[in-house]
Amino acid sequence: MIEITGVNKTYSNGFVALKDVNLTINKGEVFALLGPNGAGKTSLISAICGLVEPTSGTITVGGFDTRKDYRQARSLIGLVPQELFLEIFETVWSTMTYARGFFGKKDDPALYEQILKDLSLWDKKDTKIQALSGGMKRRVLIARALTNEPSVLFLDEPTAGVDVELRREMLEVVKNLQKRGTTVILTTHYIEEAEELADRVGIISGGEIKLVENKVDLMKRMGHKTLSLNLENKLDALPTDITQEGVSLSKDGTKILYSYKTGSNSGITSLLSNLKNAGIAFEDLDTEQSSLEEIFVTLVNQQ
Ligand SMILES: Nc1ncnc2c1ncn2[C@@H]1O[C@H](COP(=O)(O)OP(=O)(O)OP(=O)(O)O)[C@@H](O)[C@H]1O
Ligand SMILES: [Mg+2]
Repeated sequence: MIEITGVNKTYSNGFVALKDVNLTINKGEVFALLGPNGAGKTSLISAICGLVEPTSGTITVGGFDTRKDYRQARSLIGLVPQELFLEIFETVWSTMTYARGFFGKKDDPALYEQILKDLSLWDKKDTKIQALSGGMKRRVLIARALTNEPSVLFLDEPTAGVDVELRREMLEVVKNLQKRGTTVILTTHYIEEAEELADRVGIISGGEIKLVENKVDLMKRMGHKTLSLNLENKLDALPTDITQEGVSLSKDGTKILYSYKTGSNSGITSLLSNLKNAGIAFEDLDTEQSSLEEIFVTLVNQQ
């Protein structure tokens, strides 16, 4: 759906925001672009959408070059920008019709009604943008981006500063779009959103793509699990015959902790039988799995 080849961006002040970015986005996938502030996420999205001109390299959307065939390329795109950018004296409804008009497409009230209902904006359709709260304005940004029925939707931090309810709704909207075959590219600082939605994850830092990987594989490869065994009787030290790697005693001596890689030959059976042989009894157990967030922090810190 999107092919980015050798893209560099140096802004007019000399700042290099994108360095040799090569990336392919498949049709129908949800791709989460993660990276710290200033990493180049918005710059990359802006380059694909035609808002920022790459210094070098090429980008195609649906096979159309974003510079040579910009009309065709842009007609496939919906963008929910990071910054609130709306005509405050317009109503919600006219924002929708106006946006669709930009693409030279016929007015479609039934479509607007559906979109506004999906985003709980139907009762605000005749309200002026200036009379909406911040979270509602963000909903309007999402609604507006859908008016041209895009094949590719960009969501640049769509849930910054919104309440739990809108985040839920937004997740639902994305899932429904995915079902209909829309390609979605999402940037977010709420990594649990990427964890819930994304098929693939890309990590960008300092303008460079550091990693692109299937989310499930990434979490398997980098993920750790911790098994914690709550002891019946407190211990002062780990018994000397428990020598397995990854095993430790909690500071307060009430738990034995075992950290292991997910999916691997875990060694739990031998740990449990060794504990039994050492005469250690436990009351209860918990397991905890590392999140995409921890993986992300580890990767960015490594860089
Ligand atoms: N028009 C511009 N002129 C000069 N530098 C710019 C311009 N736009 C962005 N930058 C710089 O490019 C870098 C990347 O910015 P960008 O907005 O792409 O980051 P981001 O990953 O979207 O960050 P955030 O998570 O804060 O939204 C930043 O250092 C920013 O200051
Ligand atoms: Mg940004």
